[in-house]
Parts: sequence; C-alpha cells; structure tokens
Amino acid sequence: MSYGSKAAQRLANKIILITGASGGIGEATAREIAGAANGNVKLILTARRKEKLDALAKDLSAKYPSIQTHAAQFDVSKIETIKPFISNLPSDFADIDVLINNAGLALGRDPVGQIAEEDISQMFNTNVLGLITLTQTVLPIFKKKNSGDIVNLGSIAGRDPYPGGSIYCATKASVKFFSHALRKELIDTRIRVLEVDPGNVETDFSLVRYKNDSDKAKAVYEGTEPLLADDIAEIIVFGITRRENAVIAETLVFASGQASASHLYRKKL
Ligand SMILES: NC(=O)c1ccc[n+]([C@@H]2O[C@H](COP(=O)([O-])OP(=O)(O)OC[C@H]3O[C@@H](n4cnc5c(N)ncnc54)[C@H](OP(=O)(O)O)[C@@H]3O)[C@@H](O)[C@H]2O)c1
Repeated sequence: MSYGSKAAQRLANKIILITGASGGIGEATAREIAGAANGNVKLILTARRKEKLDALAKDLSAKYPSIQTHAAQFDVSKIETIKPFISNLPSDFADIDVLINNAGLALGRDPVGQIAEEDISQMFNTNVLGLITLTQTVLPIFKKKNSGDIVNLGSIAGRDPYPGGSIYCATKASVKFFSHALRKELIDTRIRVLEVDPGNVETDFSLVRYKNDSDKAKAVYEGTEPLLADDIAEIIVFGITRRENAVIAETLVFASGQASASHLYRKKL
C-alpha cells in the first residue's frame, strides 16, 4: 500500500527493531515499512529462525537498494540474552527509533489443570517477560532523545478471554495493562506506546498453537474470511507514521464476520 510522501518522510532513516520478523505479522510489517519508506530505513529483523530472516533481508535489499538490514537470531524468551543483544547491536543500528514487540505465540487449548508447565512458561516468557524486558532495555535509548515508538501486539484474547485460552489470554491481558501503565508513565515525553489487538489473522499462529497439526489449524479459519498479516502490518505502519503528537493508542481489528474472540460467522461449506 502507498502511504504517500509524508509517511516516507516520517520513516526516513529510522532504525526499527521488529521481533518475530521471520513470518506472519512481523514479516509483513517489515515489508510494509520498507515499502512505505521507499527503502530509506534501517530494519533490525529478529526471530529464532535466522534462515527466514536472511531470506527476507535479501529480498528487501533486492527490492529497495537503499535499505539497510541487520538480521539477527534473537529468542525473546531467553530473558538473560536481551540486554547483551541490545548492547551489542552494530553501531549503525544501535540508536533504535521504533520497537515492534510482535514475537508471540499460543500453545494448545487445554483447560486449566491439564496445561503443560513448559507451555505456560513458554507463553509467559515470550509474550510477557520477553516483551517487558526488551521494552525496559530499549526505553533508555528513547528517553535520551525524548522520542520513539513502542508497538505492542496484544490480541482480542487480551480483552475477551475464552475457554481453553486461559494462559494465552492472560499473557495478552498482561501486554494490555503493561502498555497502559507505560503510556501513563511516559505522559511527559514524546515516546508513544501503541497497542494493536487483532482478531483472527491467518498466519502460522494456529499451526504453532496446535503443534503442527494442520487439520486443527485449518479448522480455525474454515468457513470464515480471516484477516491477513498484511492487514495488521498496514495498521502498524499507519500508527508509526502519524504526526509525532498523535498516538493511535489502541486498535482492535476484526475481519468482517468476527465480533468477539468466539463470535464468528462461519459459512457452511
Ligand atoms: N494470528 C492471529 O490470529 C493473532 C491474533 C492476535 C494477536 N496475534 C499476535 O500477533 C503476533 C504475531 O503472530 P502471528 O500471527 O504473525 O504468528 P506467527 O506467524 O506464528 O509468527 C510469530 C512470530 O513470532 C516469532 N517468535 C515466536 N516465539 C519467539 C521467540 N521466543 N523469540 C523470538 N521470536 C519468536 C516467530 O519466529 P521464530 O519461530 O522464527 O522465532 C514468528 O516470526 C503474536 O504476538 C500473536 O500473539 C496473532
């Protein structure tokens, strides 16, 4: 999508760190930013699957000769690695302007009492502790220059909890309250906190949730017309390209045919 020259100007030369850029919403956001900036931007692309990041960086460089990318393996659930990761960024990429906290996952649909302990820790470590620790680590960079954007991926799950989603919903509710409190703490700064809460988006999210059971993953979207990763990427780019005094604080995004976490219109197939 074209955002016009204003958006390109506002993104020009910015250093943008995206977590979970190896697929889904994170990858779509990297592509959307590159396009909106006409390649005049620096992207720090992070996730666990380095080969996917390398392929994305290569593709972006082929499309936008002026783009600068730093693709780095970075597991946000490994909390102790976060500070060293940020302090060891190449100097060209160290002065981050935008942090997109996108990495996240749901694991399983088990009821409380039957949830695997490792699934609970993986969801909390990734979606909550990783996001909080990375934000705390990057915030001094923003405070020093009194500017910067923090984009947190929440979810409808953080507003409308559903059976079988207790842990994932609790992680996304944590993201919401962390984002609210942080926005209040930063009231006298030019640092913006943006939260985007998608409904169902067809990505690898359900495949990850159902641990590679593709039939279960497909069933989530059957008879519906879910959002695409690009839809969320466009909203993120819209948010970070507003005039610096305008804060798109929270955005709840549904596809038509969805009205709550579980209120979905399904066509009979
Ligand atoms: N899809 C939806 O319906 C939906 C709805 C609401 C909110 N969301 C949220 O949107 C965000 C993106 O999800 P998606 O739909 O794009 O899912 P996805 O296609 O499964 O992508 C998730 C991304 O997060 C990365 N990731 C997972 N664990 C990580 C870790 N420990 N460290 C670093 N990166 C990690 C994955 O990369 P690696 O595997 O390479 O690490 C991948 O790039 C998540 O926060 C999710 O909760 C999604």
